[in-house]
Amino acid sequence: MSTTTFNPTIAVIGAGGKMGTRVSDNLSKTDHTVFYSENSPVGQDRVRAAGRELTETAEAIVDADIIVLAVPDLALGPVTAEIVPQLKPGAIVLTLDPAAAYAGLLTTREDVIQAVAHPCHPSIFLQRTTPEEYADTFGGIAAPQDAIAAIESDDPEKRAIVEATVRAIYAPVVDVHWVTIKQLAQLEPTLVETIACMIGALLKEALDEAVNTMGVPEPAARSILLGHTQVALANGLRGDNPFSDACLIAMDYGKSSIIKDDWKKVFTDEELDKNLAAMLHLDKIER
Ligand SMILES: NC(=O)c1ccc[n+]([C@@H]2O[C@H](COP(=O)([O-])OP(=O)(O)OC[C@H]3O[C@@H](n4cnc5c(N)ncnc54)[C@H](O)[C@@H]3O)[C@@H](O)[C@H]2O)c1
Repeated sequence: MSTTTFNPTIAVIGAGGKMGTRVSDNLSKTDHTVFYSENSPVGQDRVRAAGRELTETAEAIVDADIIVLAVPDLALGPVTAEIVPQLKPGAIVLTLDPAAAYAGLLTTREDVIQAVAHPCHPSIFLQRTTPEEYADTFGGIAAPQDAIAAIESDDPEKRAIVEATVRAIYAPVVDVHWVTIKQLAQLEPTLVETIACMIGALLKEALDEAVNTMGVPEPAARSILLGHTQVALANGLRGDNPFSDACLIAMDYGKSSIIKDDWKKVFTDEELDKNLAAMLHLDKIER
């Protein structure tokens, strides 16, 4: 394998945004050659304030082995239309969310490789030992996390470049799990945003309801909810303890009262397309 495998030249486009700042903070700690591009004045100020030098996009990408597109999903179509024709053959375009790639919105080229990588975020069951690890719920700072990656190439060297980049931008990374772009879209949004994040927000709504409608003191409601949420997740996802018989009856009541019988349809291709179309502000997904 060539040395590019271990020390790829990386361009970050959108380096002053939320993810752009996170990935740039981590890349700047590596030995990789990294170029940072950002087009908004406020984003440019953030890049400079972090002590990084800005490079025009055309210059940043010209020699890049891998281009990290940290621009909003809605900008990925126009940005790839602009940059993909300028890339060197064999370059890899890495997006940080599968939606636009799965929806076919990206400009592609036969000799340019498309890849996607999403952070898993640190597990709720991670054994954290330091205050920094406890504070790092998003990941990429102190708490180890896994990452999910997809690449449209069988070339092991290209995969190694993506893996090295993913391990750098989301560091510290334990495992990189490889899936297809479609599977990544089934995980994110369906599994983790449509379901897990929705349930997280629902728990907050239920807490507010217990406080505002039923009049329970907020500290009491919050405390019992947070502790039981840990038990619910530890028992439900890891099988730590069985739920009690009475709890199982209350859970059945909750499921039949709150969950629609056909809820698993969210995993069908048709529903995934509807969900992605809404997220990407499209009438429908056309492939
Ligand atoms: N925010 C998150 O928690 C999160 C998590 C995982 C993945 N992602 C993905 O990361 C990507 C970026 O999301 P974000 O939330 O960081 O967006 P953001 O809006 O915070 O930042 C995007 C940055 O890109 C810049 N930009 C836009 N067009 C550009 C161009 N043509 N050239 C150079 N810079 C340009 C913007 O000025 C902005 O600074 C998206 O694909 C998103 O789905 C986000």
